[in-house]
Amino acid sequence: MRGCQGSSRVELSTSRTRRSTLGSDDMVIEVTRSTGRRRPLLALRRRASEALAAGPAILSSPFVSAKLLPLQHRGRDPVLMRPIPSPLDDGLPIPPKELWERWGHSAEQYLETGRTDVGIMLGLLEEAGAATDEFQRVLDFGCAEGRMLRFFPQGRESELWGVDISAERISWAQRHLPDPFRFAVVTTAPHLPFEDNRFDLVYCLSVFTHISDLADAWFLEVLRILRPGGFVYLTIHDEHTVDLLLGRYGDRKKHPYMVDLLRKFEAETGTLSQEWVYFTILADPAAQVFYRADYLVEKWSKLADWLATKPETADYQTALVFRKRL
Ligand SMILES: C[S@@+](CC[C@H](N)C(=O)[O-])C[C@H]1O[C@@H](n2cnc3c(N)ncnc32)[C@H](O)[C@@H]1O
Repeated sequence: MRGCQGSSRVELSTSRTRRSTLGSDDMVIEVTRSTGRRRPLLALRRRASEALAAGPAILSSPFVSAKLLPLQHRGRDPVLMRPIPSPLDDGLPIPPKELWERWGHSAEQYLETGRTDVGIMLGLLEEAGAATDEFQRVLDFGCAEGRMLRFFPQGRESELWGVDISAERISWAQRHLPDPFRFAVVTTAPHLPFEDNRFDLVYCLSVFTHISDLADAWFLEVLRILRPGGFVYLTIHDEHTVDLLLGRYGDRKKHPYMVDLLRKFEAETGTLSQEWVYFTILADPAAQVFYRADYLVEKWSKLADWLATKPETADYQTALVFRKRL
């Protein structure tokens, strides 16, 4: 490969190194200026070798890879195993422990959280005026391995979709949760692989709590795929969440990670004692995003009809309900 820069000629020579984790060749670029003798540009060479030493340059950083690729949390060599037979005669298979353990101490507890969160959501949607038994096309945006979706009431015409950036979780759901469940992997680029006006309901539990980049664009994308009059149910961290974490849960017994994160953030920035309307701790996709609820409602009410705000619907998270305009 050759290129030119100013009056001095630049030669780009490529050598290839086998990187089994990428499944393709990585390209190492050496640059030499034709000044009479070959002189590699040392800084570029050093950067390239640092990137290679750290592993595949893009995939090794979740903060970069998630912009482009579905997240693969564990393991560098994806392997799919045959489905595990269902442990229950009358139910759907339960995911392996590492996929559910953040939701409880036992598989039963994990399932109960999913059933409960669906019940609470449908209750709030009914209160907001939705005829929930008429929902046929439903999308769980950020569904993980289908914790909630598996409990969504099914009718004859149901089409129950789940999407997530975690390829590992979607892969499990695709292989274990049969029709009417359907799953697809997405990326953190705000695009959903569906046509306009398709869904009756899109719900996102504990997902906008982690989207620090392009949240408005994501909300608009959700609206695009909803039919006119369709509903959005989403949860956020808000000022009530902050009060709960630093008050009722301040003993760290229940949510030590979040309590410590908020305390450290406050010690470092002093934000919580000021008139904040939005802040993010850490970066996408590990971000913990906080909105003052009325700030977000005012902002997104310009895009859709706001119907309800209810604190503590998903543990310390606040639920919002919007409806796409007719
Ligand atoms: C706290 S989990 C909640 C999972 C699921 N909603 C539930 O309640 O069981 C957050 C999920 O959102 C997913 N996620 C984060 N950002 C996303 C994005 N931009 N698009 C799709 N999924 C996303 C994560 O991969 C993760 O599975």
